[in-house]
Amino acid sequence: MNIEILELDSVDSTNTYARRHFAGLPDGTLVVSRHQTAGRGRLGRVWVSPPGVNIYGSLVIKNPGEPFLAGALCALAIMEALQSAAPAVDAYVKWPNDVYVGNRKIAGILCESTEIAAGRVAGMVAGMGVNINLAPEELARIDQPATSLLAETGRTYDLKKMTERLVKSLSRYYIIYSGFPDRLFDAWKAANRLIGRRLDFIRSGGECLTGRFADITRDGNLLLEKDGEQYKFNCGEIRISKTSLSADQIIKQQEGRRNE
Ligand code: BTN
Repeated sequence: MNIEILELDSVDSTNTYARRHFAGLPDGTLVVSRHQTAGRGRLGRVWVSPPGVNIYGSLVIKNPGEPFLAGALCALAIMEALQSAAPAVDAYVKWPNDVYVGNRKIAGILCESTEIAAGRVAGMVAGMGVNINLAPEELARIDQPATSLLAETGRTYDLKKMTERLVKSLSRYYIIYSGFPDRLFDAWKAANRLIGRRLDFIRSGGECLTGRFADITRDGNLLLEKDGEQYKFNCGEIRISKTSLSADQIIKQQEGRRNE
């Protein structure tokens, strides 16, 4: 699959743009913009999108198989792109599709369906925000713990080259997504490093449940074990703390920061 890039200079949100122009955009188009004036995150949040420092992109998916795997495809591609540029940065997936380094978020994904035909999703837009050269002062202004490649490694990255790396990985994972969904699921589940840990889970209504992240079902739901019962969630958010991380992850992150 060849991902074609459509480059914009400034736009409200690449997701909004891709949904607005969906009919005219070929399958596999990646709409990227240097700047977003109204970047959107999950759960109604704002996505901080200053010009020229990060990747803001939205992938057009015309024939979504299992819609939740669209997020998985993007998360794995982002992880691979980060890894290829900065091998010491140990990124992982935090369910459903945040990309984290230690206890900080480096990338987020917003999947939106465009239309429903015959009772199933007919098209999707998968938006990706990847913090590349966002400076520590800017990161401190974000309302949740956040990081960037710059903050993790102490150097800046060529945004164009980073986008090319992402496109290469998206092309590969798009093929896996289209033809080998079980394989994509397995890779995504393996990248979800918090499985097995005790953590706080925030339901979409705001209720907090503390329990053990037992597993992810094949249809993408999170299984939380609490007081001997299992609960299944298809949305919500994991709240991460130092106790949710393994000693190895904490050491790796602290080493990375010492090497800056
Ligand atoms: C999240 O973690 O809350 C999801 C963040 C998604 C941000 C990206 S940036 C490109 C695309 N356009 C948007 O408005 N949002 C997504």
